[in-house]
Amino acid sequence: MQGTPQPPKLYDFAPRLNTFRTDVIQGLQRPLKELPSKYFYDEVGSQLFDQICELPEYYPTRTEISIMQRNIQHIARALGPRCMLIEYGSGSSLKTRQLLEQLQPAAYVPIDISRQHLLNTATELAQAYPDIEMLPVCADYTSNFTLPQPSVQVARRVAYYPGSTIGNFDPNAAIRFLASIAQTCGQGGGLLIGVDLKKECNILHRAYNDSEGVTAQFNLHLLERINLELSGNFQLDQFSHYAFYNPIIGRIEMHLESLRRQQVHLDGQMVAFKLGETIWTESSYKFTLEEFAQLASEAGFRIEQVWLDTQQLFSVQYLSVE
Ligand code: AVJ
Repeated sequence: MQGTPQPPKLYDFAPRLNTFRTDVIQGLQRPLKELPSKYFYDEVGSQLFDQICELPEYYPTRTEISIMQRNIQHIARALGPRCMLIEYGSGSSLKTRQLLEQLQPAAYVPIDISRQHLLNTATELAQAYPDIEMLPVCADYTSNFTLPQPSVQVARRVAYYPGSTIGNFDPNAAIRFLASIAQTCGQGGGLLIGVDLKKECNILHRAYNDSEGVTAQFNLHLLERINLELSGNFQLDQFSHYAFYNPIIGRIEMHLESLRRQQVHLDGQMVAFKLGETIWTESSYKFTLEEFAQLASEAGFRIEQVWLDTQQLFSVQYLSVE
């Protein structure tokens, strides 16, 4: 390749505004109000998420990066050379750079719903790694989209799903989603995944209730987004961030709690809130190694390797398609 590389071409399967509108209205009309956590990630939300990753209390990102650094050569060997690396929810591709350097994949396919964030990142990466074919895809990766074809032959397809985002799905949905990744990667393919582990409840609690209130801002931003995109009139100071760990179910639940009885209007619809009523905005399941192994096997994966930090807070795992 010669000269300055062109910004990579974007494969765009971004959902219509309609999907957001329908999901929000349906979620708020339920007896137990809920909103899908994937809608956190507009431009501002993606930036707030990056800030969360830097918080002292939010151990997952830091820990996952250190596991990756410590084991990067083993990881690269497990995945093998000349693969097509497909990242689900690439965001700022923070954790991907060292992987790209060590792994030398033939092609990198970052998939993200946040178009500008994705384009900026892909452009930077194309400059930093001119030998890797960049094929950015703007899509809701839980919906249908077509994988771009690399211009060169690849050895295998490997999915990369860091951050323990798998924990945002309920167990059955997690199995279905992993099974769809197995299908996308096919025989000989694999999955490098970050999985957050069960631990002391207080450590978990603090990670989702940081002292600077960034997580609260991130959660409340969802209402701001509804105001902006669906002409809503949520008053942000009339809702508050509420996150707790449920040790029986093994998940963090994040909610937005109504601080009074109130009515909110959006898109010509009225939504009534009781005092203390909540909108459930996110679940974040935590796993034991055994629980995750069970889930992976139900999805059609075999666990090849597991890398841990010394405190066993987090795991990075390589699974192969069975
Ligand atoms: C990286 C999307 C899995 O659940 O820990 C961080 C998102 N939510 N703080 C997580 C999140 C609140 C995060 N995921």
